[in-house]
Amino acid sequence: MYEIVSKKKINEQVEMMEIKAPFVARRCEPGQFVILRVTETGERIPLTIADYDREKETVSIIYQVVGKTTQMLSGMEAGESLLDFVGPLGKASDLKPHKRVLGIGGGVGAAPLYPQIKKLHEMGVAVDMILGGRSAEYVILEDMFKEVSDNVYFATNDGSKGIQGFVTDVLKTLLVEGNTYDEVIAIGPLIMMKAVVEITKPLGIKTAVSLNPIMIDGTGMCGGCRVTVGGETKFACVDGPDFDGFQVDFDECMLRQTFYKEKEAHACRLDQQ
Ligand code: NAD
Ligand code: FES
Repeated sequence: MYEIVSKKKINEQVEMMEIKAPFVARRCEPGQFVILRVTETGERIPLTIADYDREKETVSIIYQVVGKTTQMLSGMEAGESLLDFVGPLGKASDLKPHKRVLGIGGGVGAAPLYPQIKKLHEMGVAVDMILGGRSAEYVILEDMFKEVSDNVYFATNDGSKGIQGFVTDVLKTLLVEGNTYDEVIAIGPLIMMKAVVEITKPLGIKTAVSLNPIMIDGTGMCGGCRVTVGGETKFACVDGPDFDGFQVDFDECMLRQTFYKEKEAHACRLDQQ
């Protein structure tokens, strides 16, 4: 059993939990994820590691309360325990000792980006960040990113923080102003990562994205998390979750993401009856 050491509400839909998980905390690296299960009959959900503390032996996860399992997590409090917390899974991010990197975090996608940016900062890489959200309250981890970035820019759909628009509008402005980056790391909704790549690819700015398709075993056996990258089938759980954004078939990922929407809605409806 894995104890919930602390729990914090970040906004109406997003929560953060610190879990006591000594094995994962000792071995995990930025970019890796865990698969957790709340109860014996529950589904297994993948969550990218948002932070870790090797001394306290804790791992932080950030989740959006969108489906049955995240609703169950939301109903739990510090002191209670999760049944399974398997990891670290996936490949660690390939963080290069570049001169200057741009991180782009869309909504809750900013969470898995944080450990990567923190590590780059520790490596002495200059980092600019763009954080986006529907409104100011959905822009997460601002203070944590400010500690490890040179500049943090904001974009919100309603203009309540930073510019009114998408993270890609800030990206275009930064590039027009003459800023240069060795690499862009973008994590957020698939449509956002696709839009980022549409800007960076023609300019040849290397762009890493993180994919979180539906996963079942997390070990490359079931094929549930398959994605097409560079025309080849890859399994996000073992070949990723980070991939070269230029090579990802985002349209296929978006289509596959909708496969279980109705079943998820059904499970949530059953719960409310
Ligand atoms: P959201 O829909 O509120 O979007 C966040 C921001 O992304 C927007 O504010 C905007 O700046 C940008 N964006 C959205 N659509 C865009 C477009 N068409 N063009 C350019 N920019 C656009 O995000 P949310 O509701 O917080 O959802 C977060 C998403 O991140 C989820 O879809 C989740 O699956 C994904 N996510 C991914 C990972 C991962 O590891 N890949 C981890 C966590 C979450
Ligand atoms: Fe089964 Fe990736 S989750 S192959």
